[in-house]
Amino acid sequence: MYYSEEIIEEVRSRNDIVDIISGYVALKKQGNNYFGICPFHNEKSPSFSVNRRGQFFHCFGCGKGGNVFTFVCEYENFSFPEAVKFLADRSGIALPEVEMTPEMKKHAGEKQKLMEIQKEAATFYYYQLRNGSGSTGLEYFKNDRKLSDETMKKFGLGYSLKYTDAMYRYLKEKGYEDELIQKSGLCDYSEKYGFNDKFINRVMFPIFDIHDKVIAFGGRVMGDGKPKYLNSPETPIFNKSRTVYGLNFARTSRKDRIIMCEGYMDVIAMHQGGFTEACASLGTAFTYEQANLIKRYSKNIYLAYDSDGAGTAAALKNIKILHECGLGCRVIDLKPCKDPDEFLKTYGPEEFEKRIENAINGFMFEIGKLREEYPPGNPDDETNFQKETAKKLCRYKDELERDNYLKAVCREYGIQEKLMEDYVRKVSSAMELKGDEDKDDTAVTGLKSGRKEAPSADDAIKNAQRAFLTFIVEDPPLYLKLKDYISVTDFTDPLYCKVAGIMFEEIESDGFNPGAIISSFPETDDQRLVAEIFSTKVGNIEGDSQKNQTIKDLIIKIRDNAISDYQLKNATDGNAIMKTIKDRKALDEFKHKELNLY
Ligand code: GTP
Ligand code: MN
Repeated sequence: MYYSEEIIEEVRSRNDIVDIISGYVALKKQGNNYFGICPFHNEKSPSFSVNRRGQFFHCFGCGKGGNVFTFVCEYENFSFPEAVKFLADRSGIALPEVEMTPEMKKHAGEKQKLMEIQKEAATFYYYQLRNGSGSTGLEYFKNDRKLSDETMKKFGLGYSLKYTDAMYRYLKEKGYEDELIQKSGLCDYSEKYGFNDKFINRVMFPIFDIHDKVIAFGGRVMGDGKPKYLNSPETPIFNKSRTVYGLNFARTSRKDRIIMCEGYMDVIAMHQGGFTEACASLGTAFTYEQANLIKRYSKNIYLAYDSDGAGTAAALKNIKILHECGLGCRVIDLKPCKDPDEFLKTYGPEEFEKRIENAINGFMFEIGKLREEYPPGNPDDETNFQKETAKKLCRYKDELERDNYLKAVCREYGIQEKLMEDYVRKVSSAMELKGDEDKDDTAVTGLKSGRKEAPSADDAIKNAQRAFLTFIVEDPPLYLKLKDYISVTDFTDPLYCKVAGIMFEEIESDGFNPGAIISSFPETDDQRLVAEIFSTKVGNIEGDSQKNQTIKDLIIKIRDNAISDYQLKNATDGNAIMKTIKDRKALDEFKHKELNLY
């Protein structure tokens, strides 16, 4: 590892997990835990829990979990050493200077290597754009898109060659292994063709995370090929729904607003025109995670979407998503131009600034579109228009807010306020009765897809091992009463075995510390599994005799599996056979023993 265990532990213990996570997520105390809306999946009722005593978090919805390092790694897209550095700086701990030896590099985490690969690739594409064979791309950016050298440099624009494996060969030359190259998303592998580059003959847009690090690419075809834009696939360092293109620049723009555009070229043209607060979701669909991300930098959101049907549809959808994340927004009218890029080329930045000033409130924009569906004149259309408007007004739970929108809509469309008020009240109580609010689908599906169907025998054993550990977490001294019947080696699952080893030792020395245990697992997936052991409740087991029985059954299951496992692995060893027979006999005796733990 990069830093010593002592340093890591010091940094961890000086950064209280509740304090840190509170900086990102609103938390409410509930019993021994803190609860909030999970930042890693879309949900409306809080299933994200943070445990101060144990210094870990766990989401009951999506299963993410870990300690304070896991959280900042996931949230900020940091590698582990970066997370340590970030938290050390925050708590005023001076870290020793570490030079990465080649040996250390080899063992650096996969995430870090994938980051390195993206950086190498960005350099390669950047170089190709400026050197001979990339002239098609360079001409395209300069002549067709009117980009300055400065702009191209700022966005690290590049070009992918016409050869089918230029990137593959380049990365091989740099010493990366096939498995990692495949994981980077820069090359595809097929049995038939071997390795091929994903991006061929395209102008390349590096996608940065908020710390200016390249995590993926978008590529635009030269000419009219399909697809016009191609993005890197999701990788361990690239989560599309949590990435906002250009946010790394926009967040430092010093203007208290964010302008959301549709595409790469819009963002780049906007920045070139001086609107450094512009960014874009990748493709038109905007996610809750992206909304929550931009919310950290500004609450004044503007939408500068294409003025065609697709752009309007995206705006309508995103107004709703933003509202659900507690954000209002304003919609910029770009007509007669198709998108911000074209607008800036045609009318220039000053005109654009005027359009920003005149941007229409998101809700009023929505009602305006509704009006287009139900044009005035026909009484039936009028009724439907007003009914639909009333429904939309019900979205506002705050009375003042709702009233202000109601007044504004009535004024604009000449509706009698009193009538609308009564109607909205009726609709809103009917909706509440029916529980007719928009359902939180993703949270539910997230849960479903996270759980498996019928558990296999293997899963059953794993579950037993985990459940046993959970019992011990809830009541650590329990282990001291059970240690004669079960031991670390009985845990055949390597992860649970490691957790059991550390836990049992810590309980013996009276120093059980969940948050620190999580630090011994470098992989995020493992950290999540460990946090799950710590935060799952054993369930409603009524009465002491029932508890005794449950624990006894768990021990029997775990021991039985361990003995069989041992037997299988040492089938030809005479001593092992003797041991197996002895163990079986002891287990039989245990089965008939009365356990009195409580
Ligand atoms: P050009 O000016 O022709 O380069 O395009 P544009 O900037 O007007 O972009 P357009 O409105 O066509 O698309 C906006 C954004 O949607 C792009 O920046 C891409 O992120 C995304 N997009 C467009 N076409 C595709 C496609 O074929 N595949 C994918 N994955 N994304 C696309
Ligand atoms: Mn466009």
